[in-house]
Parts: sequence; C-alpha cells; structure tokens
Amino acid sequence: MSQTVTDLRLYRFRCYGDLRLKPENRAVVLTGPNGAGKTNILEALSFLGPGRGLRHAALDEVLQNTAKPGEGWAVSAVFDNARYGRMQIGTGLDTAKNRRLVKIDGEMQKGQAVLSEYLSVVWVTPQMDRLFLDGSALRRRFLDQVIFNFDPSHMGRLKRYEKALRDRSRLLRENGAHRADPVWLSSLETVMAEAALSIAAARLITVERLQKAAIENHLSSDIFPLPVIRIEGWVETALEEKPALEVEDGFRALLEKSRARDAVTGGAEHGTHRSDFMVWHKGHNLLADQCSTGEQKGLLMAVTLAHARLVAAERGFAPLLLLDEMAAHLDEYRRGVLFDMVLAQGGQCWMTGTDRSIFAPLENKAQFFNLENAAIVENITPLDDPAAVLPEKKPEEDTGSGHEL
Ligand SMILES: Nc1ncnc2c1ncn2[C@@H]1O[C@H](COP(=O)(O)OP(=O)(O)O)[C@@H](O)[C@H]1O
Ligand SMILES: [Mg+2]
Repeated sequence: MSQTVTDLRLYRFRCYGDLRLKPENRAVVLTGPNGAGKTNILEALSFLGPGRGLRHAALDEVLQNTAKPGEGWAVSAVFDNARYGRMQIGTGLDTAKNRRLVKIDGEMQKGQAVLSEYLSVVWVTPQMDRLFLDGSALRRRFLDQVIFNFDPSHMGRLKRYEKALRDRSRLLRENGAHRADPVWLSSLETVMAEAALSIAAARLITVERLQKAAIENHLSSDIFPLPVIRIEGWVETALEEKPALEVEDGFRALLEKSRARDAVTGGAEHGTHRSDFMVWHKGHNLLADQCSTGEQKGLLMAVTLAHARLVAAERGFAPLLLLDEMAAHLDEYRRGVLFDMVLAQGGQCWMTGTDRSIFAPLENKAQFFNLENAAIVENITPLDDPAAVLPEKKPEEDTGSGHEL
C-alpha cells in the first residue's frame, strides 16, 4: 500500500499565493516552462516530512516575497496512509516564534519528528548532482535524511552531538586546552561520545539496508549502475570491528587527547561530524566522483530508488517519490523502464519536466498538470486506465476548512 496525496494546498509558499491541487492518480507529472513553479510544488511536498525540504531552505526563505509582515506560509495535504487511513498534515511557519508548526488532523504537534511516523518523502533534484563532487557535509546530510524516515530520534542525537561539539569548541577557543575547565570538557566529551555511538550505529545499519535494497533493485532492472555504498569515519569504522562500549571509551579518550590540537584548529579532528557517505560504481570499480556526469546521475537515481524501496520494506508503505527534472536526462528506453518502475512501486510519484513529450509513455496513465506563471493552466486526468486511477474514494467536496493549519 502507498501513501497518496489527494489534496494539496500551498499558501504563501514561494511563488504561490494560494494554490490547490487535487491529484487523482499515483503518477503525477508537472510540466511547464522554466520558472513556472514546478520545483516549488515538489518542495512543498518535501515539507510534509521532517527537515528543511528538498532545497534545505530556511523557514522564512520559502515565504512568498509579497507576503505581508506577520504572515506565515503553510502547506497542507490530505493523504491516504496505509496504516492510519485518510489523514491531514498541515505545516508552516509560525512567524511570531520563527519556528515550524506541525498539525496532524488539526491537532498541534510538539515537534516535526512525528511527521516521519505518517509520511515518508524521498526526492532527487538537479541540485543533488553535486552530491558526489562537493564536500562530505552534503553526503552526511543525505544519509541522515534517509535515517529520519525510519528513526525520528536520529534528529535529536545529531542535535545533541552538535551542541556538545559547539560548546566544547567554544570552551577550548576561549580558554585554551590547558586553562579550560577539565570537568566541563569531560562532560561535553561524554555527551559527544554517547551521541556519536548512536549516530554511527544508525548510519551503519541504514547503509547496510540501503545496499541490500540497491542490489534488489538492480536485480529487477539494470538501467542504472549498481552503487556500492559505505559510511567511513573514525567512530563508524571502529564500530564495525569492536564492541560499542570499547568504541565509546576510545572515542572519549581520543577527544581528550586532541584537545590541544582542537583548541588551535577549531572543531574536533575526529567524530561523526566528519564521516563520509561513500558511493562507488560497482561496474567500473570507481568512486562516484570519478565517474562521468551521466554515470553520477545514474548512481544518484539508483541510491534514491534504493531509499524508496527501503522505506516501503521497513515502513510497510511506499514513500512519496519526487523526481525533479530526472526523466529528461535518460534515453527513451531508460525513460520507459523508469516510468514502469515508478508505476509498479506502488507509491505516489511526482515528476517534473519542461517538455511534455518526454512523458509520452505516461499519457493516459498519469495525471498531468501543466503550469505557467505559478498557475495550473491544464489538468489532465487519465480516464481510460482504471488501473492507474486511485482505487480509494475521492475526498468529499470540502469547504476548505480541512486545510486550515
Ligand atoms: N520566496 C519566494 N517568493 C516568491 N517567488 C519565489 C520565491 N522563491 C522562489 N520564487 C519564484 O518561484 C518561481 C518558480 O520556481 P521553480 O518552482 O523553481 O520553477 P520551475 O518550474 O522551473 O521548477 C521562480 O521564478 C522564483 O523566482
Ligand atoms: Mg525546477
């Protein structure tokens, strides 16, 4: 079973003042010229999960630039969840407190971590082309985002670790390694070591499962290269070889030993904040950054589809899959196979492209929204393929009240 958005509203979100979309299908194609507002819709969907969405934007960055002072943005979606049935998620910016609001079925939630309980969103965008070329921070974030889908407490671990790391760095910077309070330093390093262990353990298990999912995907279709994935870092590598307690003690001792050096260079020399999520091209036995641009795109797609498969296996429902400008780069054969995979995976998939003709195999199978200047100019629902249309009952015509945040 899948999660399927049947009603989406964007309010004061990027180029949209107030947009409503009612998809009736598991495959949704957004077409339109550059700047029409396609990616913004995917970004709004990505805010239905925890985190900062597919552009990793700040909360006030996505607010429509014409919004009046004090106005916040909101995204609301009615969707069918395999386990809980029809639900509504509302999220947005609380301008007074500059924090994110999350409501589920109208009820205010304490934080955003709860979102991953009900909805998983998996995406791939052209900006992610840099994933294998840029520094390790982007790749760590990618992997940690994968983990949020299964394990809401991962965000808390990362925050705990980062706060202790920041406090330790400040203490060392302001006082020097020898004059800083050793008791305080030790207690911060203990927090770091405890958090690092759970961060590393979650990363290792996720990488292992992601690898398994990638192999399974590759067995059913080899249009994308098979990725070999690993997480490399002091704590992760040690944890593969030694018992957790020993690694925790070892990491704490390492932090203590590197105080003098860290006081000079800032940060900490080792730790889960420096680990790298490495991807190899199995066929060429090459690290992704040494592969051609096309191969890198293929590896990115393979990792993304493995992520989607993993969500389906672990959660019991396929995620919302957002593919931004991905079809245009594939030849006709691969495109056809990708569309078949997308229709078969059981979850809802949202795809974008400037050229409608590349989605020709999806005509009469997917719902097409054609956008221009932040408005829907065409909405084509396939009528002659009952298999492609959602089996669920359409939501009752509501008065809009269900969309209040
Ligand atoms: N905060 C904002 N307020 C108003 N418009 C915005 C905001 N952020 C981005 N935009 C506009 O949204 C438009 C559509 O962007 P996008 O969805 O990326 O288009 P595309 O269809 O090419 O994917 C852009 O022209 C951009 O200027
Ligand atoms: Mg775009």
